[in-house]
Amino acid sequence: MTQSRVLHRSGGAPPVAVSGEGIYLHTADGRKIIDGSGGAAVACLGHGNRRIAEAIGRQAAAMAYAHTGTFSSQSAEDLAHIVLDGEPGGLTHAYFCSSGSEGTEAALKLARQYFVEIGQNQRAHVIARRQGYHGNTLGALAAGGNMMRRALYEPILSPAFSLVSPCFAYRFQRDDESDAQYVARLGDELEAEFQRLGPDTVMAFLAEPVVGATTGCVAAVPGYFKRVREICDRHGALLILDEVMCGMGRTGTMHAWEQEGITPDLQVVAKGLGGGYQPIGGVLISGRIVQAITNGSGGFMHGHTYQAHPVACAAALEVQRIIREDNLLENVRAMGARLETALTERFGNHRHVGDVRGRGLFWALEFVQDRASKQVFDPALKLNERVKREAFDRGVALYPMNGTIDGKRGDHIIIAPPYIATAADIDAIVDRLGGAVDAAIAGLPAT
Ligand SMILES: Cc1ncc(COP(=O)(O)O)c(C=O)c1O
Repeated sequence: MTQSRVLHRSGGAPPVAVSGEGIYLHTADGRKIIDGSGGAAVACLGHGNRRIAEAIGRQAAAMAYAHTGTFSSQSAEDLAHIVLDGEPGGLTHAYFCSSGSEGTEAALKLARQYFVEIGQNQRAHVIARRQGYHGNTLGALAAGGNMMRRALYEPILSPAFSLVSPCFAYRFQRDDESDAQYVARLGDELEAEFQRLGPDTVMAFLAEPVVGATTGCVAAVPGYFKRVREICDRHGALLILDEVMCGMGRTGTMHAWEQEGITPDLQVVAKGLGGGYQPIGGVLISGRIVQAITNGSGGFMHGHTYQAHPVACAAALEVQRIIREDNLLENVRAMGARLETALTERFGNHRHVGDVRGRGLFWALEFVQDRASKQVFDPALKLNERVKREAFDRGVALYPMNGTIDGKRGDHIIIAPPYIATAADIDAIVDRLGGAVDAAIAGLPAT
């Protein structure tokens, strides 16, 4: 093979994926790999879906691009209708863009413009959480608390954002603390941050309902988001939920917030929206924000050349139709339950797996050197990458991450199979992951 001239994420030259079918990806050197995490929880319908490919082809042939300053497209209109059918949680409009990061940027700008439209110009702060991630563009990175991804760019990140503690029970809930007490402690911390900044200067609180890559499928303890919603409401701030990774069915409900008993004012979506068939993200927007803009300046002061791209919207529309027509959320719940059982049976008592956690088809293992003390492995050992490599050698691709606790310490790996996964697929993934974890740990240098 000729030398790669692509600047790859981790250097080196990764295997070239040439085709895909269902849960499998095929490489140029002839390997058949189960895509056990849909990349970064993206490929929710698996690969090679003819219906989606044909929808993309039809849209590209009929009309690939028309500038959104002048035109809309039927695919964008239809996508907004299917996603917002029934106005879930009072969300009435959608802004489509090309990635999760662009979605976060747009949500932040919508929040700012909303307050300017209603005469609250002084609101210019956003509170988010450590160990959460909202994208890699500079605004989204500043809003995020993925310390590893921020570190290099810290001097050029906006000071408009501040970070409070995540709701991460396995690591930070005290042994003598009930869920209610933990929620109260985190609520007090958030309240104190509002007070420190001046409550009427805060635009929004931003969080992932189930934290994805940064900590590995961490759902909040019961009551946390209700408390957060109450604090935001009391101070007149917006609640922005980032469902880029955990949304669009991944956790077993179309929106992860449905399981928290609250609704957001703005919701960022991406990965599962288009399932990787086209780059697409978006913001779902509550009626009152749209109203304020409509009754005020009249238009959203933001835009990208490729926003609401007709071909991307056509792909996402077909993905969303298939999820609904094939009743795939039922499969996410059924296969999610099977995945939970299989992971718990295989790793529930594993010496080096401290926590097995997740929802729907969105699960993670957190690795520890010692279960009782929850002591982590030396980060220099890069255990998460070793597990990824061993799993890949066994024919399953998974999504690993280090820095689980604070951006430096901790290792986890994410398992996020497509919504079409069968029981046999789930069993194969867990079986191979079991071998991979044991081999990775056995391969660590003796201390
Ligand atoms: C929760 C969350 N928000 C935002 C993003 C950024 O999305 P993108 O990589 O499409 O820009 C990601 C990506 O992993 C994510 O997981």
